[in-house]
Amino acid sequence: MTKRREFIKHLSLISALPFLARFSSNATGRVFSNIEIKRLKDLAKAKNLFYGCAVNNRIFNDYGYDALIAGQCNMIVCENAMKWAALRPTPHTFDFGIADTYLQFAEKNKIQMRGHNLCWHESIPKWLAATITTTNAQEMLTEHIERVVKHYAGQMHSWDVVNEAIDIHANNDSGLRTKSIWFEMLGEEYIEIAFKTAAANDNKALMTYNDYGLETDSEKRRRVLDLIDRLKTKGIRIDALGTQAHLDGVGFVNNFSANEYQLFLNDAADMGLKIFITELDVNDQQLPNNNDDRDLGVAHVYRDFLNVALTNPAVYGLLTWGITDRYSWLDHIKPRTDRLPQRPLPFDEHLQPKAAFNAIADVFERLK
Ligand code: XIL
Repeated sequence: MTKRREFIKHLSLISALPFLARFSSNATGRVFSNIEIKRLKDLAKAKNLFYGCAVNNRIFNDYGYDALIAGQCNMIVCENAMKWAALRPTPHTFDFGIADTYLQFAEKNKIQMRGHNLCWHESIPKWLAATITTTNAQEMLTEHIERVVKHYAGQMHSWDVVNEAIDIHANNDSGLRTKSIWFEMLGEEYIEIAFKTAAANDNKALMTYNDYGLETDSEKRRRVLDLIDRLKTKGIRIDALGTQAHLDGVGFVNNFSANEYQLFLNDAADMGLKIFITELDVNDQQLPNNNDDRDLGVAHVYRDFLNVALTNPAVYGLLTWGITDRYSWLDHIKPRTDRLPQRPLPFDEHLQPKAAFNAIADVFERLK
């Protein structure tokens, strides 16, 4: 690193610790000198919870972004860097270079790390799709999980071992996703193989099943708990449930039942599972284009959801899927028809806190 870059980096870290906004400026170049913003990690920690976010590779060259994360989070997860496609350039090689750099960043800033993920129907490298067969699939899955989990053993808070295995629209008796290379090659057993292998290679990390849609879809909730129950009955170690919480600004308001969601969390807790909110963001596709109204709509969803989710004693923490609107997967996957960028996260594109930030802070502060 050159002296100049080192200096800038140093500055950006100071700005995050402890009063992030002090050195930063907004779009018009105005400098905020007296704003002392709260740190979500402190508010969470005071209630024995964690707060964190998914982090992408811009962390290595956007020195406002990395400072924001260091200032606000005590947990991070790689948005993509630990997925198959990132770690596995070829059938016989593992490339941990970039993923390891996240871990170094986390350690340096006293942040814990979740691993995401070991087995998913997406992020399948081309070579894998081209060479996998019913004969070699088990070995390929086992080898990958063994190597990756061993590489990080003792250093991970938790691992999303299997991601998104349920698809209630699939034509399958147990609600399992059938359009998955792992299901196609190994049937339901792939889930068991994944969890067994992960558990055998790290007895510290909490082995987690992670899925979306659980906040509003009762059929999916039932399928997920049934799946976990089948695994547990077989004696397979599964420690935690990740409820992703990619919420829709309008759909959530129409479909969320606080009571039913609370019952679901209780059922999961009764099965001995810890629960993490793993990927919270709010898709504002159908909310007004005016920023203030949009931010209030998004914040309203954050508040209503977290008021229910975080009050459950089995819920141990919250990660948002990103932290600033500067980088959100929703702009790619769910662009607005008016082409305005989405505003789904607690900080805006200038790294300034928004109404959603206040909603999270407020819920943390009011928790008993
Ligand atoms: C997404 C990333 O955000 C994108 O950058 C990538 O192109 C596709 O994957 N559920 C998950 C995450 O478990 O891994 C997904 O992340 C978002 C949905």
